[in-house]
Amino acid sequence: MSRKLLLDNLDKPGIQSLTGYSDNGGYEALRKALQMKPEEIVSEVQKSGLRGRGGAGFPTGMKWSFIAKPEGVPRYLVCNADESEPGTFKDRYLMEHKPHILIEGMIISSFALGANTSYIYIRGEMMYVFHILQKAIDEAYAAGYLGKNILGSGFNLDLHVHCGAGAYICGEETALIESLEGKRGNPRIKPPFPAVKGLWGCPTVVNNVETIAAVVPIIKITGEEYAKIGIGKSTGTKLISASGHINKPGVYEIELGVPVEEFIYSDAYCGGIKNGKQLKAVVAGGSSVPVLPAHLILKTAAGEPRLMTYESLADGGFATGTMLGSGGFIVMDEDTSVVKNLWTFAHFYHHESCGQCSPCREGTGWMYRILNKILNGKGEMKDIDLLWNIQGNIEGKTICPLGDAAAWPVASSIRHFRSEFEAYINNHGMKDVKHYYRLNNLQEA
Ligand SMILES: Cc1cc2nc3c(=O)[nH]c(=O)nc-3n(C[C@H](O)[C@H](O)[C@H](O)COP(=O)(O)O)c2cc1C
Repeated sequence: MSRKLLLDNLDKPGIQSLTGYSDNGGYEALRKALQMKPEEIVSEVQKSGLRGRGGAGFPTGMKWSFIAKPEGVPRYLVCNADESEPGTFKDRYLMEHKPHILIEGMIISSFALGANTSYIYIRGEMMYVFHILQKAIDEAYAAGYLGKNILGSGFNLDLHVHCGAGAYICGEETALIESLEGKRGNPRIKPPFPAVKGLWGCPTVVNNVETIAAVVPIIKITGEEYAKIGIGKSTGTKLISASGHINKPGVYEIELGVPVEEFIYSDAYCGGIKNGKQLKAVVAGGSSVPVLPAHLILKTAAGEPRLMTYESLADGGFATGTMLGSGGFIVMDEDTSVVKNLWTFAHFYHHESCGQCSPCREGTGWMYRILNKILNGKGEMKDIDLLWNIQGNIEGKTICPLGDAAAWPVASSIRHFRSEFEAYINNHGMKDVKHYYRLNNLQEA
């Protein structure tokens, strides 16, 4: 069983409140941090090896060290709580059950970065979580953890929680900044990176909810101790949102390095495939990462057990590997149609493309319509190559990685499951197509 640093004490009464959280060691890390110098906190985070939990896995300490410090210019910390990636629901779970760990992490991280105003940007559909956070922020102000001269340290911080309007693109950090400034959430061209020119043109760090929460245990146990958990450059614990055809769907905190096979089959985690069925495929890191067939998700191409780490999941590149991404672990049993699954993903990306870059705006729609054609029984063999061609013309050719996210599921589904596309074309599509449109709220194209 993995050690718990984020989801510990969830069974304690009142853990959602400031009193319950404080009774179980809450805000001890803040007291400790305020005795340290900001650069010492940055150094602890660097030593911990913590990598961004929002998807890209960029080293957090390094990101923090990049923040520009021009004289007289404010700096901002923005927490990315947009969490709209299909298959990912761990940030929501953490904020819902233990909001104060995020608030404490925000105060420590803001102190480390020299930010006196910080924001939590939350997806608009999660209004009830917005209220939970607002209540926790109010409690923190009343306790003197926010506002002026926090715990007599001379450090001032105002923390705001801001609701988005429910757009996946607003999870991309520069689109999020645009949206926070009150504009349409279109990604910005980088450079300049937010660390130099972010919110209101000022140096800004954008971090995921889980990343910021992880700063609390790092300060508590030290960066060095945190780095001992996990394997290699995948240190610490990671929240995994497990869904699909498993006996025990939910959010699990794992020590990075658990074998994928153990994660799927052990009772400590997913508890095996539902109804004793066989495993067919897994999307390991949210809808944006390549889908892998059972034999490749359980073992690398070299026959080594695949581990839940950034490196092991990526082993073999996209030919045989995938990505840990946001940790949205979607399990598919033997009866699942990979093509139908791809169809719903393609619909999502088509719907969520902001439209700024032509390859993504046009290409996501083309891919969705070609998949529609195949599933409606009008597909031709050349459509598979056309799909392949379109995804290749989106990948790496857009301002933000939404284009890649739309391309990779298409490429991997064709790479590993081409015969399934062929079967739909040979057998004139699927019979329950109308029902499927309604079930998945898809548009008929
Ligand atoms: C289309 C798109 C959606 C994204 N959605 C999220 C999200 O909901 N939450 C998140 O933390 N990062 C999301 N990201 C990644 C962010 O751009 C950014 O890398 C992340 O917030 C950085 O935090 P981290 O370093 O702590 O991971 C998204 C990226 C893209 C391209």
